[in-house]
Amino acid sequence: MASSIPLNNGARMPTVGLGTWKSTPGQVEEAVKAAILAGYRHIDGAYAYRNEKEVGAAVHAMINQKVVKREDLFIVSKLWSTFHERHLVRGACETTLSDLNLPYIDLYLMHCPMGFKPGEDLLPFDADGECIPDNSNFLDTWEEMEKLVDAGLVKAIGISNFNRAQIEALLNKPGLKYKPVTNQIECHPYLTQVKLIDFCHSKGITITAYSPLGSPDRPWAKPGDPSLLDDPKIKAIADKHKKTTAQVLIRFHIERNVAVIPKSVNPARIKENIQVFDFKLSPEEMSTIMTFNRNWRIAHFEWATKHKDFPLNAEY
Ligand code: A2P
Repeated sequence: MASSIPLNNGARMPTVGLGTWKSTPGQVEEAVKAAILAGYRHIDGAYAYRNEKEVGAAVHAMINQKVVKREDLFIVSKLWSTFHERHLVRGACETTLSDLNLPYIDLYLMHCPMGFKPGEDLLPFDADGECIPDNSNFLDTWEEMEKLVDAGLVKAIGISNFNRAQIEALLNKPGLKYKPVTNQIECHPYLTQVKLIDFCHSKGITITAYSPLGSPDRPWAKPGDPSLLDDPKIKAIADKHKKTTAQVLIRFHIERNVAVIPKSVNPARIKENIQVFDFKLSPEEMSTIMTFNRNWRIAHFEWATKHKDFPLNAEY
């Protein structure tokens, strides 16, 4: 059965969760149901994925059918960047709770350290194609997120796409009430994130790996881009274990005590992606996979490189 990772708030986060980025509203409901039936207890979502009503409908269907109890699920959502200004944070969280039709969620992440101009557009662009910043800074946004914990709307709060300096700024914030429980970052064998993971773990912050399969369905994929799922060296390791490449890509994180959220809308692949607790990658195999690092990123945020809180200018 699936394992879990202890968080610094005393709760535990199931190690494998279902990713829902890129899952359309028409697909995600069946995907979440299939995942819960297959044994997933961690569902990763976000306001920005535009599918939280359907995620909520699936969760309620599974609870109503007594497949699972609410308290056995770990439901994650994220505060989008256009809601970073202090007065917008609680309302954004309440919208997510209302869409999910839940009184609380288990984890609410700041989706990104950068705040964008409030309004209808998730990505408000200027004439040069740059995302327009808001007037927030992420330390103030964090204080508003802390209030969501105290109000009982969320059990824990965390961050996503933060670099080391940004995490240090948060940890050093005068009056910090809650440390982030996790930093959700892109991580896979082509972006192994050794330094950022070591840093976060040294501070009691877990890591959740997004795009673990290389997100082949990302809208900006180009022919000739590297493909983790087609990598013959990873396939060779998978063959040795009679597992699939995807299963090795997922198990890679479990060996590092990192949570991982593969996305699928296909019931067979959803099942396959959680059948990763009946084999182990040896230390030698892990070392080999670590050599595949090429600092290749899927999420570049190239439309926000001039933002004061752009996270990817630093080494890590
Ligand atoms: P699908 O949703 O049709 O299953 P990531 O989690 O890195 O964002 O990757 C998600 C992509 O990987 C989706 O295109 C998804 O397609 C595909 N995928 C998910 N699980 C598997 C699997 N076990 N084998 C092959 N492709 C998979």
